[in-house]
Amino acid sequence: MTQHTEQPSSAARPVRRVDRPGLSRQVCLPGGQAVTLRPIRPDDEEAELDFVHRLSPDSRYLRFMAPIKDVTPAMLERLTHIDLDKEMALVAVASTAEGERQVGVARYSILEDARSCEFAIVVDDLWRGTGLARELMTSLMDIARHYHGLEAMEGVAFADNQRMLGLAHSMGFRNMPDPEDRSLVRMRRRLRSPAESSAPSTLPG
Ligand SMILES: CC(C)(COP(=O)(O)OP(=O)(O)OC[C@H]1O[C@@H](n2cnc3c(N)ncnc32)[C@H](O)[C@@H]1OP(=O)(O)O)[C@@H](O)C(=O)NCCC(=O)NCCS
Repeated sequence: MTQHTEQPSSAARPVRRVDRPGLSRQVCLPGGQAVTLRPIRPDDEEAELDFVHRLSPDSRYLRFMAPIKDVTPAMLERLTHIDLDKEMALVAVASTAEGERQVGVARYSILEDARSCEFAIVVDDLWRGTGLARELMTSLMDIARHYHGLEAMEGVAFADNQRMLGLAHSMGFRNMPDPEDRSLVRMRRRLRSPAESSAPSTLPG
């Protein structure tokens, strides 16, 4: 499950360049805010820390699914030094009155079956209801589909997390109670039709 159990990274973890063309996108939200969506980079550590610090305790709890007080250096490295063979993390960056800020992040890790991934998302409390979460999820699904060639995306949220479950439902996810833990709901959707899944992959490098 992509949540609070961020493991400390090993020193020699391979990290591929993430500033690849095609993975970044400029969006204009319905309210007119311009936002850049791009893969997170190692030099985003400070911005990511600032972002997590600005989240309300409630948002932090819903995202990490645990009462996280602060981000340890190991966790911060794990969140910002992504291995493109196994995962993706898209940050949303916007110009605000306080300067350029990270205002959201959506990520996934590829699961053991190598065909599906598990996502997590969190948006700055001040940017709720702006359509940013939908843009982040749309880009994340596109990258999972076209860059990693994945067939399905899933996630887990608390059963009372109506904002997440509503967003997922409106984006085509099937929300099912977790049979082993009724406080959780599993969200899952296919990224391709069954016919596309059996076709040979034509992934970009
Ligand atoms: C989950 C999260 C990213 C959603 O972003 P958001 O900005 O709150 O979502 P929005 O308000 O834009 O809502 C998006 C959609 O969700 C649905 N939705 C929102 N609030 C809802 C509610 N209370 N009940 C049902 N559906 C709801 C609607 O379909 C809405 O679409 P619309 O804007 O076209 O009406 C955000 O709430 C967040 O960061 N939460 C904390 C972290 C978290 O819970 N992460 C999930 C676990 S990984």
